[in-house]
Amino acid sequence: MADTYDFGLVGLGVMGRNFILNVADNGFTAFGNDLDEEKVGALINEGGNTDKVNASSDVKTFANALTTPRKIMLLVPAGKVVDIVIESLLPHLDKGDIIIDGGNSFFTDTDRREAYLKEKGVNFFGAGVSGGAKGARRGPSIMPGGSKEAYQHVKPIFEAVSAKYKGEPCVAYLGPKSAGNYVKMVHNGIEYGLMQLTSEIYDLLKKAGGLSNAELHQTFAQWNEGRLQSFLVEITSEIFEQKDDLGDGELVDKILDKAKQKGTGKWTSQNAMDLGIPVPTIDVAVSMRELSALKEERIKADALYDRPTPKTVDKADFISKAEQALYFAFIITYAQGMHQLADASKEYGYELELGEIAKIWRAGCIIRAALLADITDAYQANEKLENLLLSPSFVEKVKGTVGAAREMTAYGALNGIPLAGLSNALTYFDAYTSSRLPLNLIQAQRDYFGSHTYERVDREGIFHTEWEE
Ligand code: 6PG
Repeated sequence: MADTYDFGLVGLGVMGRNFILNVADNGFTAFGNDLDEEKVGALINEGGNTDKVNASSDVKTFANALTTPRKIMLLVPAGKVVDIVIESLLPHLDKGDIIIDGGNSFFTDTDRREAYLKEKGVNFFGAGVSGGAKGARRGPSIMPGGSKEAYQHVKPIFEAVSAKYKGEPCVAYLGPKSAGNYVKMVHNGIEYGLMQLTSEIYDLLKKAGGLSNAELHQTFAQWNEGRLQSFLVEITSEIFEQKDDLGDGELVDKILDKAKQKGTGKWTSQNAMDLGIPVPTIDVAVSMRELSALKEERIKADALYDRPTPKTVDKADFISKAEQALYFAFIITYAQGMHQLADASKEYGYELELGEIAKIWRAGCIIRAALLADITDAYQANEKLENLLLSPSFVEKVKGTVGAAREMTAYGALNGIPLAGLSNALTYFDAYTSSRLPLNLIQAQRDYFGSHTYERVDREGIFHTEWEE
């Protein structure tokens, strides 16, 4: 056993245990802490084959075991628990120590905690960690924000444990204060969008294309070999072949169609509204989870209304169009998320480098995808890119697939298949690429009933008209 340890971790659930073992795999010594003796024991047993890992349920023992400046990561549920753990640690810390919150904390909570701990001379990091339990063990994508100087102490450990994309670590210092949590929040908003879109394409392939689970497995597996290559497409293909161990057939058909959420997608949407940045594909992905939860009402309504029988399609052609539509909508979803990050960076002073963010999302995280290499290139070519849709390298990708997105959206509308994400992605595209929208009429209406004034296209100034009533 070591005398002092390089890294401390509070919260020895699956994520915490896996993260600490990952730290030890990479040559660092690590000490865990959890109030639950069983979890402490489980880590000691699991890490028992190495002299690099130890743990205790006692906070003082834990703090005394760490080299200074202490680097303590919290992998505990977001919310009050984070504050409670911070308070329990404080009496045992020295100035210059570093606390890293690795959970999905709301970014304003991180700002509050950072300011509070700064007064006490303790550095606080909000670091998004993506990749689930497997990622924590084998290499997650890590999104840290906080003091740049203090990050230097954490950097070697994070770079060693993070996922690698062609040898490059999927972690980078992102910016001050809550930059890391904010980026992780938007990562999750994008995650919601991509998941919603994938489920809509599944619906189309199943109801219109008539694909069996075996064919769905094959189709998504094949897509994963091409430009749609991504973690979510890959696991989707695997999901379709999972047999139900409690009955016949595949498990996917037995899973209740009510999607839960922990809040990060909703926060992304809410904050985008505050910023005035449109992210409709993410908004609607949240709304669809809410709609899915209304199962009992949906059953009643289903009995009241007829639904068209999906028109027969040419299967091979339909599968090819579905692939194009999904690719198109994935691009739009990333475009919306990146746009939000660009605006938030200005609003909150994060000084985010979008190319760096796309870069650390290329491996390890839930939204990792081949597309992220192209997104990285687009932002590295032009750091000030306002929207991915304005990148010359994306124009051809979008032009080549938008036709299929239109066909699929129209098919869904005519055949009663809800495609909220896809149709919103298409509407976003059509609106964002329209040099003139009909919202001149809204301005006229506002001025008509409320004297809210309007601007003109042909001269400068603010105008009001006494509309004829
Ligand atoms: C990740 C995930 C992770 C978590 C989501 C689930 O990046 O590893 O995003 O953080 O699985 O928060 O979110 P919902 O429960 O809201 O779907």
